Amino acid sequence: MMRSLTTAVRPIVPRSLRRGARDLLNRFGIWWDRATGRSEPGQPPEELIQGTGGAWWVGDNYLRHFRELCGLRADETVLDVGCGVGRMAVPLTEYLGPAGRYEGFDIVPANVRWCRRAITPRWPNFRFRHADIFNREYNPLGRVREHQYRFPYADHTFDFAFLTSVFTHLMPPGTAHYLVELGRVLKPGGRCLATFNLLTDESDALIEAGKCKHVMQPRDGVIRVHSREVPEACVAIDEGFVAEAAEKAGLTIDRPIRYGSWCGREPAFEFQDVVIFRKPA
Ligand SMILES: C[S@@+](CC[C@H](N)C(=O)[O-])C[C@H]1O[C@@H](n2cnc3c(N)ncnc32)[C@H](O)[C@@H]1O
Repeated sequence: MMRSLTTAVRPIVPRSLRRGARDLLNRFGIWWDRATGRSEPGQPPEELIQGTGGAWWVGDNYLRHFRELCGLRADETVLDVGCGVGRMAVPLTEYLGPAGRYEGFDIVPANVRWCRRAITPRWPNFRFRHADIFNREYNPLGRVREHQYRFPYADHTFDFAFLTSVFTHLMPPGTAHYLVELGRVLKPGGRCLATFNLLTDESDALIEAGKCKHVMQPRDGVIRVHSREVPEACVAIDEGFVAEAAEKAGLTIDRPIRYGSWCGREPAFEFQDVVIFRKPA
């Protein structure tokens, strides 16, 4: 019902007001779930899940990719950038052992609050932080720019890092800077799995042919966005730009990249393109 209301007001209410209303609905949802005892342990209220894109089950798929494609072990130190409401953290609680450690940060306070409340008390080796980074879609009042944010961890801390559906909300300077930060906080030999909407000759052609699952604007330099008003709502970025930025950050890319179906590609690996970076040992 909340979602259909949101859809109905979309054309007439400015996006910033809609974000505020969504935040209020989230808060109401949290209160309602608590009052009615409706939420399952280990799964956030539906309002919070929808606020980070829905499809809770995707977490299990990605845990498999972390293990099979990146060799994640149960005793490793893991960073989840843009952890949302723990879609990846919750399945990871079943996999990481007591010798393993998980750190996540996100820019939406309600996301971090839920993770801290629901996960950390039972799994104290899972910690969550809030970062007040500006993003027109997720945190329009944020005070720090993404391309100036220093991850709050020491150099060479993590064996493995991941960003699922996060680079798809960053602008190019933020993407380049986050790759530098990943290169800094990964240990030598560390791996990073990240999802993107990558612009290639193939995805550009599919978009031009109207096959893309999102309506995307014409290319503007190295990106295409869904909305010019709120570019961070959905960003596709040139693969060459990402490869160059990774190289400057001291990271290599595992080839072949596993391309996704977001642009209408068939067959595809996942919805978004999956890229694995490595920091040389
Ligand atoms: C589509 S959601 C994905 C959340 C989570 N990674 C997942 O897979 O469920 C995008 C997330 O990126 C976060 N985000 C946006 N900009 C960010 C930034 N600059 N740094 C860290 N997180 C960011 C948002 O707050 C949101 O939780």
